[in-house]
Amino acid sequence: MGSPTNQRRRWPGLLLLLAVFVFVAEIVTYPTESGRFDTAKNAVQSWTKSIHSPSSASPSLSTTLIFPDEEDCRCQKWLEAEDNVSYSRNFEKDPVLIAGADQDWSSCTVGCKFGFPANKIPDATFGLAPNLATETIHRSMESSQYYIENNIDLARRRGYRIIMTTSLSSDVPVGYFSWSEYDIMAPVQPKTAEGVAAAFISNCGAHNFRLQALEMLEKLKIKIDSYGSCHRNHDGNVIKVDTLKRYKFSLAFENSNEEDYVTEKFFQSLVAGAIPVVIGAPNIQDFAPSSDSILHIKNLDDVTSVAKTMKYLAANPASFNRTLRWKYEGPSDSFKALVDMAAVHSSCRLCVHVATKIHDKEETSSARFQKRPCKCKGKTGNNVYHLYVRERGRFKMESIFLSSRSLTVDGLKAAVVRKFESLNHVPIWNRERPEILRKGAAEELRVFRIYPVGLNQRQALYTFSFGTDAQLSDYINSHPCTKFEVIFV
Ligand SMILES: *[C@@H]1O[C@H](CO)[C@@H](O)[C@H](O)[C@H]1NC(C)=O
Ligand SMILES: *[C@@H]1O[C@H](CO)[C@@H](O)[C@H](O)[C@H]1NC(C)=O
Repeated sequence: MGSPTNQRRRWPGLLLLLAVFVFVAEIVTYPTESGRFDTAKNAVQSWTKSIHSPSSASPSLSTTLIFPDEEDCRCQKWLEAEDNVSYSRNFEKDPVLIAGADQDWSSCTVGCKFGFPANKIPDATFGLAPNLATETIHRSMESSQYYIENNIDLARRRGYRIIMTTSLSSDVPVGYFSWSEYDIMAPVQPKTAEGVAAAFISNCGAHNFRLQALEMLEKLKIKIDSYGSCHRNHDGNVIKVDTLKRYKFSLAFENSNEEDYVTEKFFQSLVAGAIPVVIGAPNIQDFAPSSDSILHIKNLDDVTSVAKTMKYLAANPASFNRTLRWKYEGPSDSFKALVDMAAVHSSCRLCVHVATKIHDKEETSSARFQKRPCKCKGKTGNNVYHLYVRERGRFKMESIFLSSRSLTVDGLKAAVVRKFESLNHVPIWNRERPEILRKGAAEELRVFRIYPVGLNQRQALYTFSFGTDAQLSDYINSHPCTKFEVIFV
């Protein structure tokens, strides 16, 4: 007894016992004195001592184990070791393999390879695959109103297991936005153009009412300088963003009104500091850099009032300037959290998604994972819960521990911040964001959202909430070793 090898031999039986115990009592106790890795003898003695004296050779467990409060820490250590089951696949040595496309990004937080290997079954492939073990990916940046195959439900029915579209409800969204493609915080230029609004619409035809809206605005005496081939009245041979900078408004008229379908028309307007007048995604406000920073024509009935607002803002410099306040004071947290998603290339996010699925599969199918205790109980009746959390965009999970007392929404947030602060964590977006929006070394990490791994970005950013502390507690109790993702802002 006493050597690590001996200890390990003892544990399979004990683990089985633990698993049964978790099932029955949902509570696991842990040794009072020296952790199990000190000496097996000690562990067994203290374990048994606290249940029945005198000690016996075989360890036993009980719900009634009593430990002082400060033993939470030992309980944590025990969980940390006990729940530390390694996954069978090491992605550094055996990277996620994705077929059907070439690698188009440079680095990722999980080992990942794109290519067309002849002798290996890939983990995922673009297009449909004959092999059931391979995840099938559908990727497109077009609107599903033009390309019906981009409808998520339809794509799933066709057999695609991973969908990548502009929809934030897709598994791995591919948006038109990123800090690197658009100098979103570029300074506002003097509005020297003759016209009030600029339009770059290449094609008058569209699956929405954008042409009628354009004509209505003109009738309402909004002076529109049109550089695109639709209603052109200016030479289109100009640099678009530089031209937009001279205008107060930019007509960001998409060709279809589809949720989350927001293209460069909108983001270039933001760069230019020209207020976007939007026809497009019904949820365009989710993409606004702050409230009251955009104008939205939801349907033709809105045109008159939007025209009125445009005239008012054009004639009142102070009010106009106020709608651009975000350019000086920074955009909302919600906007930053959205654009930060793109700080990690979509191909890398795809790899993280696939690798996570591979881990999830092993967790639900392997007894070793099922046997993890995930929580233990101290003297005061406090449970200590073992949870996992990673930053959105990264693959690696960190451990956090919550006692029953801190099993609240605020307690979870605090534990997450404490953990990542202790790791001197630098947010994954820090180098991507414009300089003025980066996190300073002295600034504390700020949590925007925490949500269970597996939620899509629409849920994560806009709809999910734990609600009450009781609901969070229920969730954690019904999902042992819960895995969370955090978005910092
Ligand atoms: C988990 O186990 C691995 C080896 O399997 C080890 O390298 C690592 O330090 C362990 N972590 C903890 C927290 O015990
Ligand atoms: C607009 O407002 C900002 C402060 O929000 C100010 O710094 C800037 O000078 C104003 N610009 C004009 C043209 O009034």
